[in-house]
Amino acid sequence: MTTASAPIFDKGLANTIAAESEMSFIDGQNGILEYVGIEIDTLARKSSFEEVVYLLWHRALPTRSQLDQFNTSLRKEYDLPQGMWDMVRQMPKNAKPMHALRTLVSALALYDETADDASIEGATEKALLLVAKTPTLIAAFDRHRKGKEFVKPDFSLSLAANFIKMLTGEAPTDTMAKALDVCLILHADHGLNASTFAGRVTIATLSDMYSAMTTAIGTLKGPLHGGANEAVMHLLNDIGDINNVEPVIKGRLERKEKVMGFGHRVYKAYDPRATYLKTFSKQLAEDTGNLKLYEMSHKIELIMEEAVADKGIYPNVDFYSATTYYSLGLDIDLFTPMFAMSRVSGWAGHCIEQLTDNRLIRPRLAYIGPHEQPYIPINERG
Ligand code: CMC
Repeated sequence: MTTASAPIFDKGLANTIAAESEMSFIDGQNGILEYVGIEIDTLARKSSFEEVVYLLWHRALPTRSQLDQFNTSLRKEYDLPQGMWDMVRQMPKNAKPMHALRTLVSALALYDETADDASIEGATEKALLLVAKTPTLIAAFDRHRKGKEFVKPDFSLSLAANFIKMLTGEAPTDTMAKALDVCLILHADHGLNASTFAGRVTIATLSDMYSAMTTAIGTLKGPLHGGANEAVMHLLNDIGDINNVEPVIKGRLERKEKVMGFGHRVYKAYDPRATYLKTFSKQLAEDTGNLKLYEMSHKIELIMEEAVADKGIYPNVDFYSATTYYSLGLDIDLFTPMFAMSRVSGWAGHCIEQLTDNRLIRPRLAYIGPHEQPYIPINERG
């Protein structure tokens, strides 16, 4: 007979290790993030998103021929079943892209006869399909809501370049494709963050990959998680001018309101993803005439540094991704879908890890309500 140890109460699970992973390592005190032991900065500078996905899923960088094979398999999955294109056409044009994406990813299961295959092989197959099709779903919905014809996938392009082409109708410049590729690399995986945890909880019930991704997308959407990049852009727009930065930010802090794009549950130092994005977004903002945005962001950072750095609150990945995405010409409400487009690779990798050594995830609850209450018949209740 096994004896259960006494459960401990850990609000927000901040001090609970709930799973093991070989994919990403975070040292929050020293601001380090590695994918399979390789520093994120090195990957952002030298790698491609496809290489990073391969690395996360296979725990090794691909050889040239492995990468070619991986790209071929991924690109074969870019397109959607006809029913999915038709479904996008039926969606309300004023729907928010994250609602549309959550619904569409869920709907992909309707076109997969083996959707419930939760074997490792089945899950791996679905993982590839989901990474390949998510950009197509986002771009298709955006074209639809703008009353434009769909642009079908271009199988000769990388995932990032193909996405921009499907979205805008034009092949991107190398700088644009590289900028998006870097953002995808930086967002691909990040330990047991809220959406990854949610995805692992779902797959741990031996549900299916589509359900796990749908759960994860719904969780990412919140402004305390992936939705923060959109909130940062709204904040920058509300501030409007560099001279307003100080009163707006100080006012928020005085009122104990959070400044979006700052703080992190794990990082108590500078988020290493933000380090690279900061330099990158400055360059991109200069090239695209959006320097004002970068300058406002930088001023916010300086004010926050003076006010709250002693609490370990620094810019996180979402802070400079807002300027980066805006400079790329993306609509604000596409920022969080961009995060999802990348993170689907991390979510899928975690689901496969979970299935490899599965145990139902089922924490306990501290009930704080009353006991031994009388049942009062309905017509006697006051
Ligand atoms: N602005 C001002 N104060 C803050 C901020 C912020 N962005 N973040 C935390 N604090 C303060 C907070 O008010 C609290 O102060 P006090 O101890 O005086 O009450 C203290 O820092 C601890 O904050 P917390 O909310 O208890 O910390 P947490 O670990 O539960 O939350 C967080 C982490 C990310 C939810 C939080 O920092 C936050 O809400 N940030 C803004 C939203 C954001 O940018 N989210 C994106 C996170 S990175 C991308 C991702 O992984 O999704």
